[in-house]
Amino acid sequence: MLAMTVADGKLIADTVPDPEAGPEEVLIEVAAAGVNRADLLQVAGHYPPPAGAPAWPGLEVSGTIVAVGGEENAALVGTEVCALLSGGGYAELVAVDAGLVLPKPEGVDLVDAAALPEVAATVHSNLGYLIGPRSPERPPRVLVHGGSGGIGTFAIQYVHRLVGAEVWTTARSEFAEELKALGAERVLDYRSEDFSAELQAAGGAKAILDVVGAAYFEDNLKALDTDGRLVVIGLQQGRTAEIDLGRLLSKRHTVAGTTLRARPLEQRRSILAELFEHVWPALDDGLVKPVVTTRVPLTDADEAHRVMGAGGHLGKIVLTTA
Ligand SMILES: NC(=O)c1ccc[n+]([C@@H]2O[C@H](COP(=O)([O-])OP(=O)(O)OC[C@H]3O[C@@H](n4cnc5c(N)ncnc54)[C@H](OP(=O)(O)O)[C@@H]3O)[C@@H](O)[C@H]2O)c1
Repeated sequence: MLAMTVADGKLIADTVPDPEAGPEEVLIEVAAAGVNRADLLQVAGHYPPPAGAPAWPGLEVSGTIVAVGGEENAALVGTEVCALLSGGGYAELVAVDAGLVLPKPEGVDLVDAAALPEVAATVHSNLGYLIGPRSPERPPRVLVHGGSGGIGTFAIQYVHRLVGAEVWTTARSEFAEELKALGAERVLDYRSEDFSAELQAAGGAKAILDVVGAAYFEDNLKALDTDGRLVVIGLQQGRTAEIDLGRLLSKRHTVAGTTLRARPLEQRRSILAELFEHVWPALDDGLVKPVVTTRVPLTDADEAHRVMGAGGHLGKIVLTTA
């Protein structure tokens, strides 16, 4: 089969052996693969795939199940799905644990469904504590950094439509109209506005989802309301920061960090099961949508990486096999 493998820091079209579904796996004929920043890091040699994963990038796909490894999954053959992977999505076929596969939502086109697993699983596993039976009181305000990105465009909708809170976001002002249409109340241009000062003046945020890292750490904590929670999921601008522990104690703040790919299989399976219960109905109904603005042929994956790496792009990029 065709796969986009890495050679000399570039993605090249290559022929590799077809994968086979293991006992608990299904084999997916790929319609599309979502592009993620982790894929860019992998190509640059900074984020090697975990043991057992294919050597080529690709953390999420959509497509059709064409074979199964175990009889208990036989009924799934022919189903249109999307799946969360540890790697290997930039290919025509991929084998994946059946617990990391979800049906294509009714309200979403098969190609666009490739843009869902990473963002939906990341956003829900970090902000899901705000919905559901054990959730705290609905927070008045949540800050989502990088609102125009793949994570951001999904997180804005999640917080606005599923949590029911006011969403503030940082993004280029060029995207303000689109992000307000997704549910953002305030779009702060991170190049010219001081998000932390604006939030402090408005009473702070009860939760912050951060994709920037060290450069925003201090300002994030200042922008956090009493009892607020900061979750760092991206380190685009640094990994080392200082913390004022006095503020942490007096404001009863919680600071957390997570990486989806590093979670054990059982945790990823249970996140997908929760997604199906709590988020998939909203996707089926079209209440929440993947924001896919760019579809690129799989063989042009290198160009897709260049576009993502350059920044200034709205929503997700997907690679199509057809
Ligand atoms: N921990 C996890 O499990 C996990 C899972 C998925 C993704 N991530 C990470 O989360 C981050 C976002 O992923 P993504 O898929 O959304 O990538 P993306 O689509 O490339 O989006 C990145 C976003 O960050 C914005 N940004 C860059 N610098 C900023 C700044 N100083 N202030 C505010 N926004 C800024 C970008 O805006 P411009 O386009 O204007 O530059 C863009 O909207 C990446 O670092 C990724 O590795 C983590």
